[in-house]
Amino acid sequence: MNYRILGKTGFKVSEIGLGCWQLGGDFGPVAEHTASDILAAASDAGINFWDTADVYGGGLSEQRIGDWTQKQLEQERVVVTKVGRDGALYPNQYSKAAVKANLEASAKRLQVEAIDLAQLHCVPKDVLMGGDLLAWMEDFQQQGLIRHFGASIETIEEGLFAIQHPKLASLQLIFNVFRQDAAERLLPEALKNNVGIIVRLPLASGLLSGKMTAQQTFDEGDHRRYNKDGAFFHVGETFNGIPFNTGVVLAEQLKSLIPSNMTLHQVALRWLLDQPAVSSVIAGASKVEQVKSNAAVSQLAPLSSDMHLLLTRFYQQSVRQHIRGGI
Ligand SMILES: NC(=O)c1ccc[n+]([C@@H]2O[C@H](COP(=O)([O-])OP(=O)(O)OC[C@H]3O[C@@H](n4cnc5c(N)ncnc54)[C@H](OP(=O)(O)O)[C@@H]3O)[C@@H](O)[C@H]2O)c1
Repeated sequence: MNYRILGKTGFKVSEIGLGCWQLGGDFGPVAEHTASDILAAASDAGINFWDTADVYGGGLSEQRIGDWTQKQLEQERVVVTKVGRDGALYPNQYSKAAVKANLEASAKRLQVEAIDLAQLHCVPKDVLMGGDLLAWMEDFQQQGLIRHFGASIETIEEGLFAIQHPKLASLQLIFNVFRQDAAERLLPEALKNNVGIIVRLPLASGLLSGKMTAQQTFDEGDHRRYNKDGAFFHVGETFNGIPFNTGVVLAEQLKSLIPSNMTLHQVALRWLLDQPAVSSVIAGASKVEQVKSNAAVSQLAPLSSDMHLLLTRFYQQSVRQHIRGGI
């Protein structure tokens, strides 16, 4: 595993991280022992950067991480969480006391005194840009409740705003072979401001794993079933904002264009690692084998410049127009 510095935190994080939304059961049920096995496999593979949120599984993801790490205190890792989407706050009840209470509850579940990095969790644009949330996070940092703070955002406009804050350590965004626009301006600006980039949805909710078919079904509790067209939260999130059947067709087309010695999943993750502004790619995993194969991409050689060109053209000509919810 290779490691990179995460912006202003100075943390040395694995370039392949672990997305822990799955551990809360929001991609279908994950048994207790499977959750432990996933965390153990991540640790064994050198993945020391884990991303969760207070709302994943209503706190279950944080609780499982906290319980597991208590048994493995000798290993060093960076566990980052998010605040801002819990019903006590979202969409318009943000107060300093309520945000603090949510962060304290996260710290309790994670069983830490100070949270390594707390990210604003896709709070509404007007709250991010017009409210006091970033100033409150700075205060919580000074109080020692959080060590650093960052923002997880939906659009490039929000990202360009957030990275102007002098203390913002990291930015989390959707960025992948099926959503490339951030490479043009946001990523270079973030690099300039020493803001670490955390990539979510590297596989576009699994579309870029190359395993999905039009016949695929999803569990009742899986957001890829109940939110596939944005009925419950931001339409740009699940499947990257691309209608599922269109995404399956696009993934099949792309498979036929990539070198025969690589899988689509490898190309998708490697493409992200080839971007110098990226600190960590938090691939979500619901199975141990996925953790292992995601981690292994760190050892692959960078893609050729021809391959980069092909992926950019494919995105611009065939994918971009299908993304819903704004970029
Ligand atoms: N607003 C936010 O801040 C926000 C929003 C979304 C996600 N996140 C974070 O970002 C992380 C990553 O995003 P994501 O999990 O939504 O999307 P993702 O990483 O693009 O996709 C994850 C899914 O892809 C499939 N997969 C992963 N590795 C695979 C492999 N090696 N082979 C085959 N299939 C594989 C799995 O699907 P199956 O489970 O079907 O096997 C897995 O559940 C989340 O876990 C969460 O921590 C943050």
